[in-house]
Amino acid sequence: MKQTVFVGGLAALLFAASLARAADPLDAITAAAQADKSFSGFSAARGETLFRTKGKDWSCSTCHTADPRNPGRHTVTGKAIQPMAPVSNPKRLTDPAKVEKWFKRNCGDVFDRECTAREKGDVITWLRSLAR
Ligand code: HEC
Repeated sequence: MKQTVFVGGLAALLFAASLARAADPLDAITAAAQADKSFSGFSAARGETLFRTKGKDWSCSTCHTADPRNPGRHTVTGKAIQPMAPVSNPKRLTDPAKVEKWFKRNCGDVFDRECTAREKGDVITWLRSLAR
């Protein structure tokens, strides 16, 4: 009897743990990038360049600053934006839905198009490479 309760409790615990550990946003982006046969890995250097490249009016760094370890500011609303680099803000780049939503919106605002999977992976790789 006791054992059944224990096993049930353990299963519930494992289930809760699997829910808590969300997928890494980079996993789906990597799979999408690999659909291109010429893909040979992400590049932090390319990600940094993209982040600082001006599109129509803005670059990513317009709101997120050229050093995304620092807090940014929305260039239109003036609202504060938490740092984008995970070293300063560990919640960044952990939620696939949030990451996709904002890449879509921000690449649209900056470049008037969606970013490719390779570009997204490059930017994430660069942001994650930043240390103190
Ligand atoms: C006009 C201002 C602005 C520009 C320009 C901008 N962003 Fe953002 N970005 C935001 C805001 C606002 C949020 C959502 C608020 C937050 O998460 O702090 C956000 C969130 C994000 C997130 C979500 C990260 C996470 O896990 O929390 C990513 C990724 C991102 N931006 C990437 C980019 C990239 C790449 C560019 C350039 C193509 C860019 N942003 C340009 C304002 C901007």
